[in-house]
Amino acid sequence: MKRFAVIGDPIAHSLSPNLHQEVYRQLELDVSFEQIHVTPNSLDSFINSNKLDGFNVTIPHKLSIIPFLKGLDEAAKTIGAVNCVHNGKGYNTDWIGFLKAMELNGVDLNGKDCTIFGAGGAARAIAYALIQSNVNSISIVNQTKQNADTLVKWIQNNSNITVNTQTLEHSNTQTIIINCTPLGMWPDTESMPEVEIQNGQILADTIYNPLETAWLKAGKTKGAKTIGGLDMFIAQGLASADIWFGEKISEKIKLEDIKKVLKSELC
Ligand SMILES: NC(=O)c1ccc[n+]([C@@H]2O[C@H](COP(=O)([O-])OP(=O)(O)OC[C@H]3O[C@@H](n4cnc5c(N)ncnc54)[C@H](OP(=O)(O)O)[C@@H]3O)[C@@H](O)[C@H]2O)c1
Repeated sequence: MKRFAVIGDPIAHSLSPNLHQEVYRQLELDVSFEQIHVTPNSLDSFINSNKLDGFNVTIPHKLSIIPFLKGLDEAAKTIGAVNCVHNGKGYNTDWIGFLKAMELNGVDLNGKDCTIFGAGGAARAIAYALIQSNVNSISIVNQTKQNADTLVKWIQNNSNITVNTQTLEHSNTQTIIINCTPLGMWPDTESMPEVEIQNGQILADTIYNPLETAWLKAGKTKGAKTIGGLDMFIAQGLASADIWFGEKISEKIKLEDIKKVLKSELC
């Protein structure tokens, strides 16, 4: 029987097992998916004794796992973070998850002006997705200016796209704004990015717990189109399954049934 897992610290609240077990149920596969608590100090021994057929990687190991791997795919190498491992090789499927979520919600990124709120790992994966989508411009807004500058430099080194750091007051009605901070995540559900929301903007959150953040609720009342983080989460998981099974598992499953399972676990 094939065995898969997600590793992280903490890991108890991960929804990855619910997602993947629903995939296996739908496809009638005799496969297991566990969550494994791996602390930073035990990452080395976990890798050396690993017998899994593949695993997802979450906080805080997305960067620190890289020296333990045999290689990286192009996206993981460029982004500098790994959330999926197969046969000792690291992949990044967060950027694929974001693009799929945009596609599912009818958002065409080509030529758009985009603002990323945050400058951490998710922000970089999403910046990579925006570069692949030929957006017109990317603005980075982040509480620590140095981290924003680092991400701006990274985008400049990896594309010809116009990029800057700015305050959100300058965003226009065409802007797609993506929240890549934990602002609004359970249990601190009242916090939100400080941004003046305008009618016609598209607001995408990476947070999926709660399903609709206070920021997205506020955006809806002001006429913005809003997209929660659950579609991205599901799509990054399915992209991992595609890598592990070497076939397009993602095209065979019923998305609505996965959503139903995950929504029942969330507040
Ligand atoms: N839906 C999905 O599939 C998916 C996938 C990956 C991540 N995510 C979500 O994306 C979010 C970010 O994850 P990450 O891996 O990028 O984390 P990370 O690397 O730790 O980066 C966090 C970013 O948020 C900023 N930040 C943290 N606390 C803040 C606060 N109180 N106010 C304003 N900014 C704050 C940080 O600013 P500094 O630069 O000052 O530290 C940093 O830019 C999380 O909510 C995570 O759950 C979702």
